[in-house]
Amino acid sequence: MALPWLAVLLTLICCSMTTDHAISDPDPPIKNLRIDPERKRLAWDQHGNVSEIGCYVNSKILKKAIEKPYCSLGDLSCEVKNYTVKVIKGQPFSAWIQYPKQGNPLAAADNLTCRVHDVDQLSCSWAVGEEAPANVQYHFYLKHPLKTWPCPKYMQNQQGVNVQCHFDSLSLQPERQTLFRFLVNGTSGGSKIPCRQMTHRLEEIEILAAPNITKKWCNESYSFMEWEVRSLFTEDIKYELEIQKGTDLAYKEETELKVLGLRNPGPYTVKIKAMDSLFFESRPAGQWSAPQHLDCGRKDASFPIWLVYLLAPLGALLLVGLVFLCRRWPLMQKLFPRVPHVKDPVGDSFQNERMMAWDPEQQSQEECPVVRVQVLGET
Ligand SMILES: *[C@@H]1O[C@H](CO)[C@@H](O)[C@H](O)[C@H]1NC(C)=O
Ligand SMILES: *[C@@H]1O[C@H](CO)[C@@H](O)[C@H](O)[C@H]1NC(C)=O
Ligand SMILES: *[C@@H]1O[C@H](CO)[C@@H](O)[C@H](O)[C@H]1NC(C)=O
Ligand SMILES: *[C@@H]1O[C@H](CO)[C@@H](O)[C@H](O)[C@H]1NC(C)=O
Ligand SMILES: *[C@@H]1O[C@H](CO)[C@@H](O)[C@H](O)[C@H]1NC(C)=O
Ligand SMILES: *[C@@H]1O[C@H](CO)[C@@H](O)[C@H](O)[C@H]1NC(C)=O
Repeated sequence: MALPWLAVLLTLICCSMTTDHAISDPDPPIKNLRIDPERKRLAWDQHGNVSEIGCYVNSKILKKAIEKPYCSLGDLSCEVKNYTVKVIKGQPFSAWIQYPKQGNPLAAADNLTCRVHDVDQLSCSWAVGEEAPANVQYHFYLKHPLKTWPCPKYMQNQQGVNVQCHFDSLSLQPERQTLFRFLVNGTSGGSKIPCRQMTHRLEEIEILAAPNITKKWCNESYSFMEWEVRSLFTEDIKYELEIQKGTDLAYKEETELKVLGLRNPGPYTVKIKAMDSLFFESRPAGQWSAPQHLDCGRKDASFPIWLVYLLAPLGALLLVGLVFLCRRWPLMQKLFPRVPHVKDPVGDSFQNERMMAWDPEQQSQEECPVVRVQVLGET
């Protein structure tokens, strides 16, 4: 009966226990959890029957350490992270540390986003950390393994805190495959603010510029368009076309070519967007070109469509009106027998007024043939 309680108690103690804090387990299976910056390892001293340990970074499993007292971390970030180890097989136990051990992680710049755009421009932006002190100032660096570029041009929020950085004319072409580190660290008074960083190839954050239309012509039976797009970082580019013919719904098409040929297209509008051939789903969307309108010939063959739209309702209205009038004509004449007009020298100019001699014999001839319906069987 006491055993399950003991287990729960132990679990509670174990899981809230950290190497940073007082260790209440007299004999924990993992001790001295630490970061070894030289060998880029999360390491610990271990004893007892522990065969499999999971290493977690910010609560996400990184890897399992099987029969060795460390996990390799690859690149050590300058960001403050929570490194946790958990015994997977054996008596439950876990411990965690934060590294680096400087400052409040919630004071670090937040939501760092960087984009390469307009071929060779780099813009990065971030938000002031939720718990950043009022006198915080942030600094941005672009780094690769051999070089560091401090931000050349900052933009600031109303409090004068740097929240954007802009690089004009990036020309790092030979290094397009290099992993760059985008880093924001900070200061507040004399103390350090934890950094925020991310790592990307430049192509991964590129918004591909709108394609330039370089050639465009058409004749009555064929249309042709050619374009080009410049990118310093993305190599394999394909194109998405949005084509809208006449009054049809627009449709999309993809092509690896930089040309579009259409047979008998009629008037149409097309816009073009460049995208990475392989990784388009994980990349920022490219920019659409300005819509290109092509309309060549076939004018005699196809009546201008807008005129049809304009005239069709008018025609229909006229027809309905006519039918209506014709049907009503005899009825109206019977209900309101026409009083012959007195010839009036003033009203003479009225062209629309019907002036006629009153002749009841003729009345039937005024009937519209439309209403002369013969009902079979009546005769
Ligand atoms: C670190 O992560 C562990 C679990 O992954 C969690 O129990 C612990 O509270 C975290 N520490 C901090 C300071 O967030
Ligand atoms: C160690 O633990 C495993 C599984 O938790 C168990 O099968 C094994 O018998 C244990 N060995 C010792 C020496 O306690
Ligand atoms: C960062 O972005 C998230 C999600 O959009 C938002 O909830 C959070 O408030 C942002 N952080 C700051 C400091 O603005
Ligand atoms: C911020 O990072 C840069 C580049 O790594 C470094 O040179 C600088 O000393 C750091 N500043 C602070 C306050 O940590
Ligand atoms: C339109 O151009 C195509 C391609 O150059 C050509 O083959 C065709 O004869 C031309 N048609 C007309 C009606 O000019
Ligand atoms: C596209 O046109 C713009 C403006 O005319 C020009 O600056 C740019 O260099 C052109 N791009 C290419 C790939 O020709």
